[in-house]
Amino acid sequence: MGIESSCDETGVALFDSEKGLLDNSIYSQTKTHQPFGGIVPELASRDHIAVLLPMIKKTLSSNNLSLADLSAIAYTAGPGLIGSLMVGGTLVHALSFGSNLPVIPVHHMEAHLLSPMLEKNAPGFPFLALLVSGGHTMIVEVSGFGQYEILGSSLDDAAGEAFDKVARLLSLPQPGGPSIQKIALNGDPKKYNFPRPLKNKGYNFSFSGLKTAVRLMIQKELESKSNEGIETIRSDIAASFEEAVVDTLVSKCLYALKERDCDKVIIAGGVGANKKLRLKLKLACQAIDKKVFYPRFDFCTDNGAMVAYVGYRRYAQRKKASGPILIRPRWKIDELEKNYKEINNG
Ligand code: KG4
Ligand code: ZN
Repeated sequence: MGIESSCDETGVALFDSEKGLLDNSIYSQTKTHQPFGGIVPELASRDHIAVLLPMIKKTLSSNNLSLADLSAIAYTAGPGLIGSLMVGGTLVHALSFGSNLPVIPVHHMEAHLLSPMLEKNAPGFPFLALLVSGGHTMIVEVSGFGQYEILGSSLDDAAGEAFDKVARLLSLPQPGGPSIQKIALNGDPKKYNFPRPLKNKGYNFSFSGLKTAVRLMIQKELESKSNEGIETIRSDIAASFEEAVVDTLVSKCLYALKERDCDKVIIAGGVGANKKLRLKLKLACQAIDKKVFYPRFDFCTDNGAMVAYVGYRRYAQRKKASGPILIRPRWKIDELEKNYKEINNG
């Protein structure tokens, strides 16, 4: 069983080594946080407490299983919001205490990174991974399971964070990515030539300058217009912003594929659900004979399936019951082999 509770989604899933994914349920807290225009960590923890145990019970009963039928329980130990992580970590350890099941702490970004493995057309190692979520933006060279080298990351805002902040500037509901994608469909992506920060300059990303450029444009355009033209301006700004982010992410992937002489790239994390990004990266990769892999839309954003899958992979290394409750609100992805040696010996 895999439990995800790192941010504002509660996920519970079952993965079987032979049959694959058996069950996957998700509870989104969008409605809880919407009135506040962003995620309120304290409310996120409370929602996880309210829904997690009933979700686990329902998952077991609808599959005619009890805890004793499981091999292990995996949970997201980090990175993420400390209170939300604590809910998953303590509950899973309590279940383990009562049932003697092994507990597997999972790295949230490793779970995103391996989420394309849940698809029929799964990539084989090695590959490059573009990880684009609300908290992280990275290009990672993946040479095997657990072998991750970060080639570049965002120097400031994550890509998803930029979508969320621009959505707020445009008075659109959170999470910002889907809201921007929706109104961008009616807009002209070429109307505003927003900056593409650090494009053609190595592996790192930067999105805060782009966000500032969008903010200044919103002030300039919306202050001078009457109500009639406002919807068009908002759609044009959303479409042009989305275009700038997609253009930057695609060009970084192409650069990395060339520099590292690699033939495949995967996209994962919430922003990986962006339809324009998926399409443009696919077309760009086709043109240079490289392959691109994505998880299905539901597995781009946070979910329990990816945690159950990584739990299954890491289970081979940990067959004993639980150690201390491990929570790592900050946890780098590039030292996991060393970290797991410590965890499994601890
Ligand atoms: O991976 P995720 O669910 O949570 C984190 O680990 O952070 O990513 C959430 C982020 C949010 O910033 C959200 O706005 C963004 O992913 N997102 C999108 C789309 N769907 C979700 N960004 C762009 N286009 C989308 N369709
Ligand atoms: Zn995530």
